[in-house]
Amino acid sequence: MRIHRSSLSLSRPFLYKSSAAMITKNTSYSMFSVLFILYFSTNFSFSYGVDSITANKSLSGNQTIVSSGNTFVLGFFKPGKSSRYYVGIWYKNISPRTIVWVANRETPISDMNFAELKILDGNLVLMDKFQVTIWSTDVNSTTPNSVVATLGDDGNLVLRDGSEPRTIKGFWQSFDNPTDTLLPGGKLVYDKHKNTKQLLISWKNSEDPAPGLFSIEVDPNGRQFIMRRNRTEQYWTSGAWNGRIFSSVAELNYVFNISYVDNVNETYFTYSLYDPSSLFKSVMDVSGQLMQSSWSENAKEWNLLWSQPRQQCEVYAYCGPFGTCNQNSLSSCNCLQGFKQKSETDWNLKDYSGGCIREIDSLQCGDGSTFMDREDKFLINSQVSLPENSQSVTVRSAGECESVCLSNCSCTAYSYVGNACSVWNGELLNLQQLSENNGSGRTINVRLSASASQFSRTKKGKWVIIGAVVGSVAVVIVLLAIVVIVICRRRIRTPNAVEGSLIANIGEDNKSNIGVPFCTWESILVATENFSDANKLGQGGFGLVYKGIFPEGQEIAVKRLSSCSVQGINEFQNEVVLIAKLQHRNLVRLVGYCIKENEKILLYEYMPNKSLDAFIFDQNLCKLLNWKKRFEIISGIARGVLYLHQDSRLRIIHRDLKTSNILLDEEMNPKISDFGLARIVEGKGTIASTNRVIGTYGYMSPEYALDGLLSMKLDVFSFGVVVLEIISGKKNTGSYQSTEDLNLLSYVSG
Ligand SMILES: *[C@@H]1O[C@H](CO)[C@@H](O)[C@H](O)[C@H]1NC(C)=O
Ligand SMILES: *[C@@H]1O[C@H](CO)[C@@H](O)[C@H](O)[C@H]1NC(C)=O
Ligand SMILES: *[C@@H]1O[C@H](CO)[C@@H](O)[C@H](O)[C@H]1NC(C)=O
Ligand SMILES: *[C@@H]1O[C@H](CO)[C@@H](O)[C@H](O)[C@H]1NC(C)=O
Ligand SMILES: *[C@@H]1O[C@H](CO)[C@@H](O)[C@H](O)[C@H]1NC(C)=O
Ligand SMILES: *[C@@H]1O[C@H](CO)[C@@H](O)[C@H](O)[C@H]1NC(C)=O
Ligand SMILES: *[C@@H]1O[C@H](CO)[C@@H](O)[C@H](O)[C@H]1NC(C)=O
Ligand SMILES: *[C@@H]1O[C@H](CO)[C@@H](O)[C@H](O)[C@H]1NC(C)=O
Ligand SMILES: *[C@@H]1O[C@H](CO)[C@@H](O)[C@H](O)[C@H]1NC(C)=O
Ligand SMILES: *[C@@H]1O[C@H](CO)[C@@H](O)[C@H](O)[C@H]1NC(C)=O
Ligand SMILES: *[C@@H]1O[C@H](CO)[C@@H](O)[C@H](O)[C@H]1NC(C)=O
Repeated sequence: MRIHRSSLSLSRPFLYKSSAAMITKNTSYSMFSVLFILYFSTNFSFSYGVDSITANKSLSGNQTIVSSGNTFVLGFFKPGKSSRYYVGIWYKNISPRTIVWVANRETPISDMNFAELKILDGNLVLMDKFQVTIWSTDVNSTTPNSVVATLGDDGNLVLRDGSEPRTIKGFWQSFDNPTDTLLPGGKLVYDKHKNTKQLLISWKNSEDPAPGLFSIEVDPNGRQFIMRRNRTEQYWTSGAWNGRIFSSVAELNYVFNISYVDNVNETYFTYSLYDPSSLFKSVMDVSGQLMQSSWSENAKEWNLLWSQPRQQCEVYAYCGPFGTCNQNSLSSCNCLQGFKQKSETDWNLKDYSGGCIREIDSLQCGDGSTFMDREDKFLINSQVSLPENSQSVTVRSAGECESVCLSNCSCTAYSYVGNACSVWNGELLNLQQLSENNGSGRTINVRLSASASQFSRTKKGKWVIIGAVVGSVAVVIVLLAIVVIVICRRRIRTPNAVEGSLIANIGEDNKSNIGVPFCTWESILVATENFSDANKLGQGGFGLVYKGIFPEGQEIAVKRLSSCSVQGINEFQNEVVLIAKLQHRNLVRLVGYCIKENEKILLYEYMPNKSLDAFIFDQNLCKLLNWKKRFEIISGIARGVLYLHQDSRLRIIHRDLKTSNILLDEEMNPKISDFGLARIVEGKGTIASTNRVIGTYGYMSPEYALDGLLSMKLDVFSFGVVVLEIISGKKNTGSYQSTEDLNLLSYVSG
């Protein structure tokens, strides 16, 4: 039975001119609705009115229209915790709310109370509280004055001429403008005249209906469905439809009745349920999978019947650039080592498309910097499936393959397998971490900046970044500090201690190239609380060391060189420059410096675990160092010394290698500090020292201590003593000159 709207004085559009007017109209409207529903639900089935928006009845705030069979609802909603409102269709009796269609998926509104969904000039339009059109069906109607929008019990919202019977097809319907869900009866059309395709497009993330990365469409040539990422890269096809089944997905075929329509105007698939009373939905999910679920009335939840592609990691580039997909772990997406999530918020909302970005700094790219250690490094990732779009290069060795990649700044990774060298440019997409026993696993070497590769290896926290920045400076500062220390050193006081300085021949070096920040005296006073005793870490060579905390919470070791230093400001700066050039993960890094009148300050990375001697010579702490750790420490020191002697651009003799100069970071990695006595050597590197021998007895090689012959062998000797001390846990107290006590060296050699 048809009931004419005009016979109900439901009337007047909700255009509120004032809040007072709003309240009265709102109230009268709701009262009327209640009466209306009571009246008609007892006497007639709904056939007209509550399931439609008409020129006289718009939708605002909490108001909804409900389909005639009570299955679907149209109204305003707010997804998840977001504060944006959308107009959408959802199931009336299913909780949690399951959205099947969104009108304004790209243009949310911030306040639903004064927004209005109404018929205007033959269109359904959404207006915000300023009466600005946010969204519109945007069609031309021949009868704009009698247009109504009716929500069908199939979930289809139809715009039609209200004076015609419902059976006549409308001129706009939500089924022709799907979002991410295809309901039974819906279709994805390929329009042959316009050459356009309708797509199901995933939400951007679990709380944002904006169009996401993944879509599915019909492929008229192959009579199949295709899924794409970012509307381009195809990553799944259903296989051709043979009239009964899709060739690649058997499970698609038995749940419902699929039909394929191909006429002069269009091509499409549609489906219907064998049991029309059940609730089904096919959703292009934010996971990049098409998911078909049915509602279980008993369990009160959606049953996932199937999803395609079956494996999450088969979704192309699911984890975004520099992300890896791991099928076997709970959180499928991870970042490559040295990378971090681009947006944690997005990741939490299951939107991984942003992928990962470099954790620390950009690539050095061989920018002409002359210091070897600044060169980019490669981090090995094994048992992965390789990204696409590689370029193959003909090379003779793995080393050559690496050089090819290093030589081009846009190269981000290489892989060398069985004489075949592949390189990748730009972002790495679609990496998968395969299970241990998967035979198709490969190894890829991912390019990182030198500092990033160190950090990702030691997996340090925030202050590591600070350390990285400051690192190079720290070394310089330490070297300087040591020089100053030499001057003032109590143990071996040398009148002409400047000999120990590294000042050498810095000549053309320009201070502006130091790359080490100059810090103000005031900032250092604040950081160390005016050099308070509470912040004192200890007495290093040449001065006191304090712990400083900078405003961002960075912890820094502050070395205040004794004012007895005779070194001038220029020499000090030169030394800073020099130490800044030494960069190695087993050398303490200089992070900044400061000069104010007689005060000279060096800032270097803070080593939470102090120095090695504090551990190995302490009865309790030494138990923390097992043999493996001790071996690692020895290897680390050896690498640091090797760098000073051979691998750095400057050939440097440290001259004061000893356990108290080996600092330990939070993961107990050793770092050589105190370069105050260090000297640059040239050529073969043996110098007959005209000055008094300086260093620490017990660690000095005989030829140096006795004859003043300075060479790199001095450090090697000291290193040997350090190794013995680490292994034995005993101090090599005296020097070999000492005859009284049996020291460690004579004990070992005897
Ligand atoms: C809207 O209401 C007015 C009177 O209130 C009526 O004349 C008109 O026909 C109605 N329009 C529609 C489309 O029902
Ligand atoms: C909508 O419903 C909520 C909760 O039921 C209520 O707090 C709010 O006042 C309602 N708004 C309107 C405009 O009716
Ligand atoms: C509607 O009509 C106007 C004017 O006749 C025309 O410019 C516009 O393209 C039409 N829009 C559609 C969707 O047909
Ligand atoms: C998607 O493609 C557009 C251009 O086609 C590009 O600008 C955008 O970065 C791509 N997005 C992703 C996540 O790949
Ligand atoms: C399948 O759908 C087609 C078209 O919608 C219909 O003609 C056919 O009878 C349906 N088959 C079954 C078994 O329901
Ligand atoms: C194709 O489109 C034309 C014009 O819209 C229509 O008259 C015709 O019936 C359509 N044919 C089919 C098979 O739908
Ligand atoms: C680096 O590789 C890219 C991509 O292959 C290429 O376009 C570019 O010319 C290369 N640059 C150099 C300096 O070889
Ligand atoms: C190895 O991993 C690939 C990609 O995930 C998968 O397609 C293949 O089936 C796996 N092979 C084995 C033997 O597990
Ligand atoms: C040092 O660098 C600055 C700025 O780059 C420049 O103005 C100055 O001339 C340079 N000095 C020397 C000695 O190279
Ligand atoms: C440091 O000294 C300045 C001036 O003497 C003083 O104002 C400030 O409060 C001191 N800060 C601390 C932490 O003692
Ligand atoms: C080293 O320092 C870190 C950070 O302060 C601490 O967590 C760790 O326990 C220390 N290691 C030892 C062996 O003391």
